[in-house]
Amino acid sequence: PPLNRIISLADLEDVAKQVLSYRAWAYYCSAADDEISMQENARAFNRFFFKARVMRPVSKCDPSTRILGFETTLPIFVSGAALAKLGHPQGEVNITKGCAPSKIIQMVSSNASFSYAEIAAASSPSQTLFFQLYKHKDDATALKRIREVEQLGYKAIFLTVDAIVPSNRERDVRSPWVLDDQETGIKVYNDGEGAADSDPGLGVAGALIVNDDRDMTWEKTIPWLRSVTKLPIVIKGIQCVEDAILAAEAKVDGILLSNHGGRQLEYSLPPLEVLYRLRMQQQHIFNKLEVYIDGGIRRGTDVVKAVCLGATAVGLGRPFLYAQSAYGEVGVRKLISILEREIVTTMRLMGAAKIAELTPDMVERVNWHPV
Ligand code: FNR
Repeated sequence: PPLNRIISLADLEDVAKQVLSYRAWAYYCSAADDEISMQENARAFNRFFFKARVMRPVSKCDPSTRILGFETTLPIFVSGAALAKLGHPQGEVNITKGCAPSKIIQMVSSNASFSYAEIAAASSPSQTLFFQLYKHKDDATALKRIREVEQLGYKAIFLTVDAIVPSNRERDVRSPWVLDDQETGIKVYNDGEGAADSDPGLGVAGALIVNDDRDMTWEKTIPWLRSVTKLPIVIKGIQCVEDAILAAEAKVDGILLSNHGGRQLEYSLPPLEVLYRLRMQQQHIFNKLEVYIDGGIRRGTDVVKAVCLGATAVGLGRPFLYAQSAYGEVGVRKLISILEREIVTTMRLMGAAKIAELTPDMVERVNWHPV
């Protein structure tokens, strides 16, 4: 359908499902086991309702904010996802170019299908890129990658900690694949390793998660990372309040509450629920570091709920892959403009003219589960 018929993120996903190869769709949409965490990530938002305030001036409404000090026009960012070329020849570059006008920040995956240099080269000078790090088990190899992205001007390191081993993604497993795939010709930039050791029986995920450090600890890994780079450090994949506290003690700059879009530990709590618990139990944490969530965010209302509960911003993974698969760079711009309209409408109807006016007392968690 023509782009002007697309009015929601669900529409973009529908088009992506039609245009993607079976393999690409299986890799993008799949999640662990019975995909319960993935479904609940989205459904969790149904339990949170707004307590809107009226009679407040909202003709001027500004949804812009900062992430780690970097400007963004909306409290959203691109969560790093591997292999955007599976969906469109311009892959990650579609996302980079599509984000440029709105200054939406792109977190580039360690397993991107363009090189980190090609993605940086496609960005505009005023654009911010973050880097998602899968830490190689060999520190020296990990360090090489960190130096490369520092030199390319990436502005933060998001260290992913929830994917140290491949999980069971059955849709993906049913679509065998190895790195440096001959049929698609797509190369993944994961330190040039993996392919030889990868097990085609584990699908794409099994091919990608091979050389990751399985023995990371708070005591060793964070001080090491801190000692080798001055970039802000964010831990991606925090799944409970206890680890959020440890992250604050480790003095990282941020935490991304995430269960990898339900793709890793099945029955990991929905990130919105973890955010809610963190807000209720450990309010002071929010003064020590920035908190983000990702997983299941598909509407402006979802974004606003998370921001009310204290998230600086939220990440979206699959929606950006789907948008660029369906329409390339303009699909990415479309996704952002849809979310902007939805966020601004929600803020106005809640009586909030800027992000700072979105507060925890404006959402209520209900204990009945609608739909
Ligand atoms: C991911 N995700 C991910 N995370 C990461 O740290 N490194 C990676 O390479 C990838 N790759 C990846 C591929 C695909 C196809 C998906 C769908 C996801 C997880 C991603 O960063 C994010 O946490 C989730 O996608 C968020 O959930 P939603 O927005 O997809 O529901």
